[in-house]
Order: sequence, then C-alpha cells, then structure tokens
Amino acid sequence: MRNANNALIYFTYTSSLFLHCVYNAVDTVSLKKQALLLEEVQKLNQENAERTEASQPLEKGMQNSEDCLVTPIQQELILEGDKPVEPEQEKSSIEENEVTLELKEDEMKDAEPKMEEVQAETPELVEEETKELPLKTTDILKDQEEEDCTPPPAAPFSHRVLSAKPNQINNFYTINRQEVLGGGRFGQVHKCIENSSGLTLAAKIIKARSQKEKEVVKNEIQVMNQLDHANLIQLYAAYESRNDVILVLEYVDGGELFDRIIDENYKLKELDTVMFIRQICEGLRYMHKMYILHLDLKPENILCVSRLTNKVKIIDFGLARKYQPREKLRVNFGTPEFLSPEVVNYDFVSFNTDMWSLGVISYMLLSGLSPFLGDDDNETLNNILACQWNFQEDEFSEVSEEAKDFISKLLVVDKSWRLGATEALKHPWLADPAVHFRLHQKVRSTLHCNALIVLPESVNYGIS
Ligand SMILES: *[C@@H]1O[C@H](CO)[C@@H](O)[C@H](O)[C@H]1NC(C)=O
Ligand SMILES: *[C@@H]1O[C@H](CO)[C@@H](O)[C@H](O)[C@H]1NC(C)=O
Repeated sequence: MRNANNALIYFTYTSSLFLHCVYNAVDTVSLKKQALLLEEVQKLNQENAERTEASQPLEKGMQNSEDCLVTPIQQELILEGDKPVEPEQEKSSIEENEVTLELKEDEMKDAEPKMEEVQAETPELVEEETKELPLKTTDILKDQEEEDCTPPPAAPFSHRVLSAKPNQINNFYTINRQEVLGGGRFGQVHKCIENSSGLTLAAKIIKARSQKEKEVVKNEIQVMNQLDHANLIQLYAAYESRNDVILVLEYVDGGELFDRIIDENYKLKELDTVMFIRQICEGLRYMHKMYILHLDLKPENILCVSRLTNKVKIIDFGLARKYQPREKLRVNFGTPEFLSPEVVNYDFVSFNTDMWSLGVISYMLLSGLSPFLGDDDNETLNNILACQWNFQEDEFSEVSEEAKDFISKLLVVDKSWRLGATEALKHPWLADPAVHFRLHQKVRSTLHCNALIVLPESVNYGIS
C-alpha cells in the first residue's frame, strides 16, 4: 500500500509551490506575471508576423460544430489512411511486438470507433492568443478562457503526407542546437527555422543507425501521415541521414501541460482540467476513428499551445500504431506509473489502453498525485495490476463527484469496461454545461497547499 508520502509526488516540488500558495492567498497579479504575459503576447505577435511572411496558405478554415466538439477537415490530398493499412506494413520489424492475426469476437468489442462519419467540418482559424489581452487582470483572461471551447489553432501549414528524404536538412533549415525543446530516449528536439519560408518549427532528431531503428521511425512518420487534427501535433518534413532521422514538426510554445501545475503563474482549477482533458479526448477520439492507438499517453506528451490559453496538443507518436486485434505491446518500463494493466501484463492492447492513460492524467491534474506510484517500481506495478487506487487523499476533498465518476470509469482493469473516447466526451464532467457552470462558480480554493506539509526530499519522476 502506498502511504501519503510516496503517493504524493509526481513533480519536483520546489519553492514554486509555496509561492503558488502565497499568490493564491494574495489575490493580486504580480509584476512578474504581467511581465510574463507581455513577453508572451509580443512573442506571439512576432511569430504571427513570421507566419504571415512565410506566406503559407492557410487552407483550413475552422468552424465550430454546435457542441464545440470539432474535428478537422479531411483534405483530399491526405488520406491514404482512409483505406486500412495492410497489417504487413504495420508489423514491420518492431521486435517487441508479437502480432497474431487470429480474430476473436470478444476482442472486437473493443473496436469502439466506427469508421462512419469523420465529420468534415472545420473551423475558421482562430488565432486568439495573438490579440492584445487585458493585462491588468488575468482573472478576466481566465474567465474568458473558461468559456472558450474552440479548438486550438491548426498548424500553420496544411496537412502533409510525406516520407523521409535523403537530403541534408541543413540545406533547408537552420536548427538551433542551443535551444532544446525536449528530449527522451530517442534523442532531442530543437527549435528550427525553415530558410525558404522563415517558418518556426521543431526538429526532432532521432538516433537511428540500423535499418531496424530507421523502420521504427518510419512507422512514426506513417502514423503522422494519417493524423490531421488540431489537437495532434503535425508533421512538416522528414530527413534521413546515416545516423539519424529528423522529423520537422509543428512548433508550439506553451510548455508541458504538467509544468502548469507547479507554476505559480497558474491557478489550475477543475474547470481548466476539464478543458485539457476534453481536448486530449478529442485528439484520442480522432485517432481511434482512424484506427490508431497512441499507446504512450503521459504528461510529458501533452504540450500547451501557448501560455495564455488552455489549448493543448498531443505529441510523440513514437509508439503509436494501427490497431490490430490481439496485438501485444512490450514497452520499456521507463515510467511505470502510466502503464495500463494490459501493458504491464503483456496482454493485448486496444483503444481503451489509451483511455486508461487518460484516467491517470485526469487524476494527476486534479490532485497533483500519481494514482499508482509506489515506493519502487515493483510496488507501482503491483498497484496497477491490483487496480489499487482511491480518492482518499485530501487533494480530492474539493473535487466534484462528476470528476471522480469520470476517473472511476477509466481506471478499470478490464479494458472492455472502460469508457471509450466518444463516450467519455459525453460524460457529464466533460459535456454538461450545468456542471461547468457550477465549477465556474466555485470559489477559487487554495488548491493543493497542504501538499507542502508532507513534502519529502524532492523527487522527479517526470521524465525518463
Ligand atoms: C539559412 O539561413 C541561415 C540564417 O539566415 C544562414 O546562416 C544559412 O546559411 C542559411 N542556409 C542555407 C543553406 O541557405
Ligand atoms: C520485485 O519483486 C520481485 C519478486 O517479487 C523481487 O524478486 C525483486 O527483488 C523485487 N525488486 C525490487 C526492486 O524490490
């Protein structure tokens, strides 16, 4: 069993948490906050100017569907993805996967999404962040956002279907090697600029020497070729050289979602979490409709679009793949906290494997706690397999029943009993305006200040 201490800390708690509480108590806007906002607005304006200069035709209009749930246009050039990818392509040479193709009826139960209508509505491009915002009170800002259920801005280029070119990327892009946007076992992500257009992008440099390693990256490209959605980061180009494959990606600037929780500049409320989770769920619904599983959904794979709004995009499709009945997935146990029971058990994965992860992310955003984290990996894995978690910590005292119900319907061992993405979007916590109104009315609470009391030495489980 976990105790209060080990249950606690996903994040590296620093003095920022303390500041966070102080700022909450004194309900004024710090100079620092204003400066930060100003800086962001300027930056966004500048980027916007760059984009315009780049004269990338914005072919995608956007429009809201009635319920604010929006899916992107399917452009003609895109989707080969409409026809199912042959299993042979998918199996490729990923050694960790054992694929058996016998099809069992009960497995198909999981095939929740129906290929039917991937609605072809799309939005009029809203670049809201770029307009000048009232800087005196960020509360006004926050209140506007809360009502804002428009999708994030689409990538500043239209969807592309591509393959890795053997050319030298340095002939076309200037990669800023100093500016590291992220990293992981694969390599590093740098900010970069396309010389011909001036467009700011992100270059994900993936070490891949052997043919086998290169095939794995090509799977990622192939998956991204099929995904055109405002909540999923878009692929712009890809280059292959002897030692690596470089993906040139849509650039977003808001930082990792989970950084917001510990940042004193944000007062994350339950309604903010609703906005985040709904968008992640939108992204998942689209992926699942395209018969693609993400399989690596975790906090560091969710990026904020800007610091001024609650817009997010899912990144890293390195483990994503076409759904195949009875496919097993073996992953490196880098961060076992996020693994679903079926992955820990090396059992078949399916759409609802992603939904488990969504449950874990929801739990963490609401409380700052990791639901299955134990004293060591063994304990964590055991907690997952036993589905041992609860809402008993103090952090949940203010959390709505709807939120708890939502999570309870995702953190279920048997994946066929979890909510699918479409159902999840209809759950009252994400869909009921009355619930949102109530959350909106709720007094700004002092959030997780009591977390301080049980602070152990700082632990960073964030990035493997
Ligand atoms: C691309 O632009 C950068 C910065 O302007 C410049 O230093 C570099 O030489 C250019 N590269 C090419 C191949 O034109
Ligand atoms: C995990 O559990 C296994 C079997 O119960 C045990 O052999 C192993 O030493 C444990 N590892 C750790 C790090 O506790």
